[in-house]
Amino acid sequence: MPMTQGNELRIVGFLCNWCSYGGADTAGVARAEQPTDLRIIRVPCSGRVDPLFIVKALLNGADGVLVSGCHPRDCHYSAGNFYARRRLEVLKRFLPALGIDDARFEYTWVSASEGQRWQQVVASFTSRVHALGEAPRLGDAKFSPKAAGTALPPPLRTLGTGKNAPLDSLKQAIKEKLPGLECVIGWQQGYDGAHTTPLFMRKTEDVDKLVWGPLNVANPAVYLPRFKGRKTGIVVKGCDARSVVELLQENLIAREDVTIFALPCEGTLDMARVNEKLGRYTTVGGIVRDEASVAITVDGREHSFGMAEYAQGKCRGCANPVAILADVTLGGAPEIHAGAPVPPELGLLDAMSLEERRTFWSAQMERCLRCYACRNACPMCVCRDYCVSDSRDPHWMTQEADVTQKLFFQTIHALHLAGRCTGCGECQRACPVGIPILALRQHIARTVEELFDNYKPGLDPAAVPPLLGYEMEEQNIHEREWK
Ligand code: FES
Repeated sequence: MPMTQGNELRIVGFLCNWCSYGGADTAGVARAEQPTDLRIIRVPCSGRVDPLFIVKALLNGADGVLVSGCHPRDCHYSAGNFYARRRLEVLKRFLPALGIDDARFEYTWVSASEGQRWQQVVASFTSRVHALGEAPRLGDAKFSPKAAGTALPPPLRTLGTGKNAPLDSLKQAIKEKLPGLECVIGWQQGYDGAHTTPLFMRKTEDVDKLVWGPLNVANPAVYLPRFKGRKTGIVVKGCDARSVVELLQENLIAREDVTIFALPCEGTLDMARVNEKLGRYTTVGGIVRDEASVAITVDGREHSFGMAEYAQGKCRGCANPVAILADVTLGGAPEIHAGAPVPPELGLLDAMSLEERRTFWSAQMERCLRCYACRNACPMCVCRDYCVSDSRDPHWMTQEADVTQKLFFQTIHALHLAGRCTGCGECQRACPVGIPILALRQHIARTVEELFDNYKPGLDPAAVPPLLGYEMEEQNIHEREWK
């Protein structure tokens, strides 16, 4: 009698050719009784298993996914399973953020001689998935009214408007360095006084257009890789500087080519909420800043935006308002209070159950336009022409506008940024429909911190991002028991 008594579920197994596939074969040759739910896909090494294989399976109807490779130190390619172990552990802890029970995914190690262990693994995992039942489908989820908002945590520092920032001194410093640079990237007034756009300063008169303050929301580091190999300057806020450092960590730019100008950031406005409050208007009458708020007059009506209330969520937890790496830094450093506030977007996710997260993302993905603004604004999204969302070979995803495809794209983006995302929030800011996708990156960032000795991307130009390396003995990743 089959162990699942004819009620098979859809379980996908990715088995390394050299060990676990041999282990499954050994169990078969020994006629060890096994459940019949598992559909095995043979891969050259567990290191070949991209976490996206697993997410794609789970989003497209698999009830469970099992990955099995050679035991650590036994990999046929020396270190494939060491890399896999880090990636798969991060993925396992990330799945609940999507509303997927992490018990539906497991990874383990089985050697070719361990037929009995294979039997135990497959029987144990299958009965676990059976206890969970069929996986709920994303498209079946109904909108959750809980997807509204969450309380704002107190900021780590006093937020202000940069009213007294030494902008003139900064302009002077840029003018002095400009003859040796192709251009310096900063911000200028945008299509009206209430918005800014990137500024590429190539001539001295361009420098006079530079603006500074809470409207400088864009991260200019996104343009730096395009200037690779050319002498370029950049004006940064603290969070932008972390992106520059991460680009240096990944050799996407060279330190000797980049001149970094910095002022201490006092916070930036959440333009989605600002725009919502401003509503439709035709003319901007004026912008007035005091120490703690910005007053914007549109069509004769004045709207006040206090930084304590209208700053971006990421600014509340920012402990690096001053660039950690700069050639020219002007202005004093603000006092940082102790603490580690949970960002509002992540707090929103944390407050939900698995089912609520599923319904939340389903509702949010209904609104997604697939415009890829989130990808294009991301300074660490560097594949450009080779993005898997556009690729036909391999064909990772379709161009259909269904919620599964859209959430799969967001998951790909988030997983590609695991251990690399500096939390600048550009993905979310650029989203024209205001989907809080930063929460997915923040969820992974928290996992990376927990697993890899409090690692935060973009703080040390010499550090190796954790998912690009491994330890033979991981401090915080341990083999789970099979009972
Ligand atoms: Fe088996 Fe690498 S060859 S895990």
